Amino acid sequence: MWFKVSELSPKPNFLQEISANGVELVLTNVQGKLYCFENRCPHEEVRLSLGCIKNKKIQCALHGYSFNLETGWSSEENLERLIIYQVKRENAEIFIEMEDC
Ligand code: FES
Repeated sequence: MWFKVSELSPKPNFLQEISANGVELVLTNVQGKLYCFENRCPHEEVRLSLGCIKNKKIQCALHGYSFNLETGWSSEENLERLIIYQVKRENAEIFIEMEDC
């Protein structure tokens, strides 16, 4: 199910906190492409919106581990995968795809 989350794209590399369907998320714009992921580091559950974008990865502010924005995987072993959501633009509005609870 697609949820409308915004009418504006975030500025490049800005980590915009949003929520949809009761889940805290981050929406970001990297080189013109929109990405959305859960606002919770798989390592120790710190908000990833406190981190920064580097080389199409989100880097956590606490221990510096980073997660690929396309796959959710980290280069660190033994870390859970970051939950990534599909994003689409339609008539200047932004939607993400999530399971309906
Ligand atoms: S809490 Fe995010 S890398 Fe440790």
